[in-house]
Amino acid sequence: MAESFKIDVQPHGKVESGDLIIFVGDDLKPTPAVAKQIGSKGVDLIAKAAATENFKGKAKTAMTIVVPSGLTVDRLIVIGIGGEKERADVDFVQLGGLISGKLNGKIATVVLDLPGVGVSPEAVSDIALGVQMRRYSFDRYKTKKDDKEKKGAARLILNVADPAAVKKVYKAHESVLQGITLARDLVNEPPNVLGPQEFAARAEALTKLGVEVEILDDRAMRKLGMGALLGVAQGSARGGRVAIMRWNGGKASDKPIAFVGKGVVFDTGGISIKPAAGMEDMKGDMAGAACVVGLMHALASRKAKANVVGAIGLVENMPDGNAQRPGDIVTTMSGQTIEIVNTDAEGRLVLADVLWYVQDRFKPKFMIDLATLTGAILVALAQEYAGLFSNNDDLAERLIAAGKATGERVWRMPIGPEFDKMIESKFADMKNTGGRFGGSSTAAALLQRFVNDTPWAHLDIAGTAMGSPQTEISRGWASGWGVRLLDRLVRDHYEA
Ligand code: BES
Ligand code: MN
Ligand code: ZN
Repeated sequence: MAESFKIDVQPHGKVESGDLIIFVGDDLKPTPAVAKQIGSKGVDLIAKAAATENFKGKAKTAMTIVVPSGLTVDRLIVIGIGGEKERADVDFVQLGGLISGKLNGKIATVVLDLPGVGVSPEAVSDIALGVQMRRYSFDRYKTKKDDKEKKGAARLILNVADPAAVKKVYKAHESVLQGITLARDLVNEPPNVLGPQEFAARAEALTKLGVEVEILDDRAMRKLGMGALLGVAQGSARGGRVAIMRWNGGKASDKPIAFVGKGVVFDTGGISIKPAAGMEDMKGDMAGAACVVGLMHALASRKAKANVVGAIGLVENMPDGNAQRPGDIVTTMSGQTIEIVNTDAEGRLVLADVLWYVQDRFKPKFMIDLATLTGAILVALAQEYAGLFSNNDDLAERLIAAGKATGERVWRMPIGPEFDKMIESKFADMKNTGGRFGGSSTAAALLQRFVNDTPWAHLDIAGTAMGSPQTEISRGWASGWGVRLLDRLVRDHYEA
């Protein structure tokens, strides 16, 4: 939840009280300016404490000196940034997360003067973003809040060279932070609270930022012939929805770029029902849609100079007397038919109709879809990379570069005729699974049949979006994965 706390940005000056946070390299030396502030006593203290604590100033490590003798501050927190090699490529967002984890509910001042590393306003803003991302927690349904970290509302002061420049850059970062927080909240919400209709309403709330939002209900989708999406939705008492969000920040003549999200609000597997263990995690099967909503929020809030379409397919996959069966054949909006051989391969069915709809109506420059599509991507890439599948090398390269820049990394995986062959059906144009082998690639191969000639990329985020490993910037279940990646892609390539 958006519990963002105040970060003050101030010019450098002497810090006399509260916690003081400084940086050293693997020689344990702070910059001359910091050395001057803490005096020779302070510098000696660091060396002494480091020896007893076995602190080597390595990157991603920190040492806390409590009531440092000879200094007036409460704690001296020394953060390592390593040797020359590590210093050449500091991840400032992660660094912000590390700092955040050291705060204890009191006032802390970070002196952003790093030995051998330039700290641009962009870098400072990344640090602030990381601080805030780390603080996220989802406790809406806890009647007793365990708020160790939050009590006494910590105040954080960043001492920097040019506060005005930082404040300007940080504004856009704050928009991205809100987008990440929104995406995380949506993924963490329980499935009884967040059905297709309620999810659509959350998308509709973006109108307050100037986003145009349209909602398609069952009737509208039937009229359009979205038989694949409706086939999944028919087993649920809660009808499906498609939400279309449009942010027009670019020139009127500019073709839009488009993002499409899988929004299965709960995936039981349907008649091909999943085992009970861990099924509760399938409340997160709408993480692709959540990312698209979070991204649209971020872009609109920072008034991105681009025309952007976000479209999400919202359904619940349930077993029911009216649920679709293995053996059913559905007709998609594109006219192609799909034989359902496993009702648990439902995400691709939803996306097939939404992808077709988006390229048909908006003729976008490209489409990128995000989906918690296959368990197989976890087998291949663990929770480290999202799977990237694309019919366009330039788009794929740009996504890989944005991944390296943000730390939300993607790894390109194959599609092609071999995988197409595996989804041939005896009775229809294709079947909805290709078996166990290459499960992520056969799923992507199906999606490709619904993008026409549009440059397209598919991100399989089943491993990265939820149940996430604890990192410096993500401590909860939902990571909000993809908002930073795609915001970066838009910023680097598609803004006027
Ligand atoms: N939503 C699941 C994929 C998933 C698995 C997401 C684990 C997050 C964590 C998807 O709808 C699914 O059930 N896929 C099946 C496909 C199979 C039936 C071909 C799978 O991966 O087992
Ligand atoms: Mn499924
Ligand atoms: Zn699913």
